[in-house]
Amino acid sequence: MLEVPSPSVTHAPPPAEAVAPLMRGLDVLRRLTDADGTLALAELARATGLARSTVDRICATLAHLGYLRLDGRDASLAPPLMAVANAFLDALRVPELLGPLADRLADELDESVSLAVPDGEGVRFVHQVLRRRALSISFRVGDPLPGEGSAPGIVFRRGVDLAVDDQLVERGLIAVAMPVRGPSGGVVCAVSVVSHTSRHSADSLPGAVRGALSASVRGMEGVLRDAAAATGLRPGPRSSNAGGGGFGSAPVQALARGLSVLTVFGAEHPALSLSRIAEGTGLSRATARRALLTYEHLGYVRQDDRLYRLTPRVLGLGCAVLSRTTLPRIAGPHLAALSDALGESVGLSVADGEWVRSTARVAPRRVMSVDIGVGSRLPAGATSAGQVLAAGAGEAVADGPEDGLWSVAVPVRGRDGDVVSALDVTAHRGRGERDAWAQALRATAARIEADLAVTSRFVTVPRH
Ligand code: PHB
Repeated sequence: MLEVPSPSVTHAPPPAEAVAPLMRGLDVLRRLTDADGTLALAELARATGLARSTVDRICATLAHLGYLRLDGRDASLAPPLMAVANAFLDALRVPELLGPLADRLADELDESVSLAVPDGEGVRFVHQVLRRRALSISFRVGDPLPGEGSAPGIVFRRGVDLAVDDQLVERGLIAVAMPVRGPSGGVVCAVSVVSHTSRHSADSLPGAVRGALSASVRGMEGVLRDAAAATGLRPGPRSSNAGGGGFGSAPVQALARGLSVLTVFGAEHPALSLSRIAEGTGLSRATARRALLTYEHLGYVRQDDRLYRLTPRVLGLGCAVLSRTTLPRIAGPHLAALSDALGESVGLSVADGEWVRSTARVAPRRVMSVDIGVGSRLPAGATSAGQVLAAGAGEAVADGPEDGLWSVAVPVRGRDGDVVSALDVTAHRGRGERDAWAQALRATAARIEADLAVTSRFVTVPRH
């Protein structure tokens, strides 16, 4: 715990026992992440140098696992892939333990604050508190930064107690970083305070933030000491795949099996032996060992004292893209499927004072369909969505928003159970049936909620 296993960068050829389909699947996920989440299958074939039929089978497997969505010719990263990043961030414990102190520091200074860990030659963000400004910083959890060209990178590489980034990463951006040390003296992460040249200069920022930043670092080091003292024996991982035969129908079983290794890690078991990994995945020791050899070769896993850990590099498998998503984007494919199934217009909306504002809408293509523009506002009381949002629960039916229309709505809840949005179907009067629609809406809301829950474990997902 509280150790950041840095991947060793290797350009050596893969070991003979490396699992080729696993390497290919990881390559596809990494390339999709670097391409902002979506690529045409033909483009993936070109980029990876694989045969198109191989790319299709790998993508079918990733889609089967829920990690990818296939849409005509395109493959896109899907929210369930965030489980891989969550396994690392859970095991790391830094966001959970130090995130609240970083949040407080951001409030105190009214500046953005981030936590970063070393990743090979560079760094990766594991927590971000953003202050909304006209000139806002666009880094998110999972994003990489260069080692020498960023404040946290300088902290890790030079071992200094304070580093300044004077517009190295981006013009106008200045940052001050300090190391946070664990109980054994090693640097666990760096805290950065990030500002802009319109508010500070590289000369003024360190002086302005040093006091609060040092106090926050001391607080964080105290939290790490307490956490290390409280660590007792940990139970082994629950078996996540055993018995379910979960890989049986995957087109490329070796890929599906190999990927299951990543998500056995977590807060309760940040470091695992081969036997524990085999037990947790339901794989044979030989299969688990070959997957681990593959991950080690690629720098996603490190082994120390017979214990394996995930490295920050796993954040390059989707997280950097999925951490920028919004609720309407998460909901999009689910709305499309529901609209298809019902043949009606379905949408998502949020409360906005006395109003409800539409944040996403999918209407079937036909001559007469309900058309409510995204961004438009309606009085809350006049719509079923508004009633659901006002009540914070339940299911609602309303006439309107125009003569001759009616709608049914259900709530969509966030991780903590709060209603974050309303999902509705709106149609011409005389079409549809309340109970059937409510049931379909609830099933869709549950899918959106599952995607939202996995995505928002360590990042804030905007509701609109
Ligand atoms: C950031 O958190 O966005 C950040 C931190 C340190 C840098 C640059 C950006 O040097």
